[in-house]
Amino acid sequence: MAKKRNTTPVEDAATDDLKPGEIDATGRPWPELTLPAFVKDPAGATIIAMCNQKGGVGKTTTTINLGAAIAETGRKVLLVDFDPQGSLSVGMGINQRSIDKTVYNLLLDRTTSFDEVVHHTPIENLDVLPANIDLSMAEVQLVSELAREQALKKALAPLRPDYDFILIDCLPSLGLLAINALTAADGVVIPLECEYFALRGMAMLTLTITRVRESLNPGLQLTGILPTMFDGRVIHSREVLARVLEEFGDEVFHTVIRRTVKFPETTVAGEPITTYATSSSGAHAYRTLALEVLNRCA
Ligand SMILES: Nc1ncnc2c1ncn2[C@@H]1O[C@H](COP(=O)(O)OP(=O)(O)OP(=O)(O)O)[C@@H](O)[C@H]1O
Ligand SMILES: [Mg+2]
Repeated sequence: MAKKRNTTPVEDAATDDLKPGEIDATGRPWPELTLPAFVKDPAGATIIAMCNQKGGVGKTTTTINLGAAIAETGRKVLLVDFDPQGSLSVGMGINQRSIDKTVYNLLLDRTTSFDEVVHHTPIENLDVLPANIDLSMAEVQLVSELAREQALKKALAPLRPDYDFILIDCLPSLGLLAINALTAADGVVIPLECEYFALRGMAMLTLTITRVRESLNPGLQLTGILPTMFDGRVIHSREVLARVLEEFGDEVFHTVIRRTVKFPETTVAGEPITTYATSSSGAHAYRTLALEVLNRCA
């Protein structure tokens, strides 16, 4: 049996500093997580979509902070804001008024080049493709396009050689934009809030992923399910996490993102938690998630 520390397993997880074999918040032994050797993939960037049609579950927070944590390992990362709310752009400190062209132009206007749209952030290896409300028009305009589900895949194809990871922040819907993200992606990360009703809608989401895999993107993998906003002091948060494990087993990451006010603070600061509060437990959690993702994608 794994050696217990002088706190409960759940409190252990709250320390975010488990040794391999110790029981984590998901009730499983914490794995040995090492950084895989960096080998440039000749096929170009691995594309991962953060997807859940439920709103406010941590998709944007995860895209920003997972991306920043992967960038810290020396891999080149592009964050794609694929939500007309533009929350990722705001969370990365990009002034909405200063944006001229966005991912919308890249999708629908063939004369727009990537260089006109990309924002290079002050963080090494981390770029952003911003969005704003214009993207809401894309959903309507794409309907009449040929291969309307493949517009994002096509727009990202020329960028793949320049990056190691491209992370797409989806909007809370399973409409045409989300289908575009799933069609462009190699993997999906599903952030799941540890709240009542968290599992509601999961059947629809997994069915959508299966359908996209069958008809548009046979290589699409479920990279993992990420429990977010976990509060080990609250019984129902622990109950929800146990249910998620029962339902999805090893598809659930070992990393659990705890509820902390630091995340809303980072949005105001306009930067990832890895730079805003670099030694916080939230930053540490996203770094361990990055290790899990890198190992799952290796
Ligand atoms: N672990 C966390 N603890 C506390 N607050 C969090 C956490 N993760 C995210 N938040 C906050 O919760 C709100 C929703 O998070 P976020 O925007 O990442 O979710 P989302 O799934 O992208 O939402 P939407 O569906 O609207 O795009 C934000 O204010 C964010 O700062
Ligand atoms: Mg969002």
